[in-house]
Amino acid sequence: MLDAVVCETPVMTAPSDLPPIVSRALDLSRRRGFVTSSRLETGRLLAALAASRSGTLGECGTGCGVGAAWLSTAAREGSRVVTAEVDPDLADAVAEIFADDPRVEVMNGDWSSLRDRAPFSLLFLDVREAKASGVDTFAELVGPGGIAVLDDFTPCASWPPMYDGRVDVTRQQWFTDDRFTTVEVMVTSDAAVLIAARH
Ligand SMILES: C[S@@+](CC[C@H](N)C(=O)[O-])C[C@H]1O[C@@H](n2cnc3c(N)ncnc32)[C@H](O)[C@@H]1O
Repeated sequence: MLDAVVCETPVMTAPSDLPPIVSRALDLSRRRGFVTSSRLETGRLLAALAASRSGTLGECGTGCGVGAAWLSTAAREGSRVVTAEVDPDLADAVAEIFADDPRVEVMNGDWSSLRDRAPFSLLFLDVREAKASGVDTFAELVGPGGIAVLDDFTPCASWPPMYDGRVDVTRQQWFTDDRFTTVEVMVTSDAAVLIAARH
């Protein structure tokens, strides 16, 4: 009888070397003790999606610039990245990181100020209140064929989607809105994002 085959290769889904701009943003996160930067898996997903887009890529909630950094690594020629952060210190620090990249604009202000830069071919929603504000807001901001990416969901296989013992109304709305086709994608065993494509 054969022994069970145990695979000793560490799980690797992508190269371990990070793009330099992502490393700079992660360094800023570490220096500031900022713990809510995007995970590597989410970042790579953003970069893969950005590579398929032209036009303007947006982000609600810059944090220390990790998401914007991933978007910038794959943004196509002629595309630009606009990210909005309400905390002026953070916005300044991240603007410094991107000082040499004219494709990236860091706006200091509420995420709703991104309206001035619409339509977006990709919009990454990484502010809790933005995600909860309803699909209507984003149907206006995301152009036809564009995609919204909503971060920080707990994977859920049931319908209606549940979170913390209640129906997850945000997720339910995105799945049932006729203007978008939405899919939940697990990025790790305990984290999922929604990707919603605008018709
Ligand atoms: C989860 S973190 C963002 C992480 C970042 N997107 C990344 O990929 O690493 C959320 C950020 O949104 C910012 N924020 C909170 N409310 C906001 C608002 N109303 N408008 C813009 N930014 C906001 C917070 O200051 C925080 O930096």
